[in-house]
Amino acid sequence: MDYSKIKIYQAPLQGFTDYTFRKVISEVFGGIDKYFIPYLSYGKGRAIKKSSIKEVLPENNVALPVVPQVLFADVHELFDLVAILVEYGYKEINLNLGCPYPMATNKGRGAAWLEKPEALAETLQQLFAQGFQASFSVKLRTGLTSDQDFRSIVDVLNQFPLSEVIFHPRTASQMYDGKANPKLFAEAVSLVKHPLVYNGDLLTEADFQELKITLPEQSSWMIGRGLLIDPSLPLRLKGKALEAKELRKKMKEFHDQLLEAYSARLEGSGHLLMKMNQFWTYFSESFENPHKTMKLVKKSGSLLKYNAAVVEIFRNY
Ligand SMILES: Cc1cc2nc3c(=O)[nH]c(=O)nc-3n(C[C@H](O)[C@H](O)[C@H](O)COP(=O)(O)O)c2cc1C
Repeated sequence: MDYSKIKIYQAPLQGFTDYTFRKVISEVFGGIDKYFIPYLSYGKGRAIKKSSIKEVLPENNVALPVVPQVLFADVHELFDLVAILVEYGYKEINLNLGCPYPMATNKGRGAAWLEKPEALAETLQQLFAQGFQASFSVKLRTGLTSDQDFRSIVDVLNQFPLSEVIFHPRTASQMYDGKANPKLFAEAVSLVKHPLVYNGDLLTEADFQELKITLPEQSSWMIGRGLLIDPSLPLRLKGKALEAKELRKKMKEFHDQLLEAYSARLEGSGHLLMKMNQFWTYFSESFENPHKTMKLVKKSGSLLKYNAAVVEIFRNY
């Protein structure tokens, strides 16, 4: 296999792949070619969460190839969000057309666009006419409820000079149920004129080998949950797998650096423990006994007990 052609992107995962996570995974493991920042969007009363602004601040993303993302309901929201990101100096901005949560889709955001090809065409027309000093990429699912929606959306996307298209072959209504369908991705390859990035259920090296059977020519891959479980996955897929003892050492280093960085950022051990509990919901999956691992983390009610639990996990599981 020609490993030099493989490109790995870190998927945006709201609440998980924050700027601390990006910095630590890049320093301890690396192997990631682009880091996508979870979406920036308007909430109630047209306010943007402070935590979302922190994510896109240039000083929190120093020296990393990051791409911010916007979640928008109409051209006004889109222009305002893009203007903020252009002001910060971003040269590529990703448009979220795939967020499946009803909180977003009921307001016309995310995957709701997949049922509105005409409105999307008009919005993109206005976006490109505006002449923002940035390129735009798109991340989408197959449809809102039908896995055929993407066909008319692709016709629209093909009319605009997008830098790339990231395709997660699942409907929004599926959320994360069932499996992503690589056959639909293969169909998209023949329809989309832009560079296409695969996303969905690439959790292990075995998944990668299986995906390569359906998609032998594919070279760009976006990984979400697989990275939270095994942060060394990009290195593995690039033929640079770590030897078991070295991997264990790196996993511990990764955990310790995250803990240290979050303890500097978050106020109070309660918040810190909550954050680390959330982190372990995926990270525990790479240990021999994920259930026992998670149980140990969950029952540690203080930082002292948490640290003891982590020592036990790395020693015994
Ligand atoms: C907790 C969580 C948060 C997510 N946040 C975002 C987001 O902000 N923007 C986005 O485009 N996708 C988001 N996603 C979707 C992921 O980027 C990705 O498309 C999905 O998890 C499928 O990839 P995977 O199977 O490699 O995890 C999120 C997914 C999860 C589970």
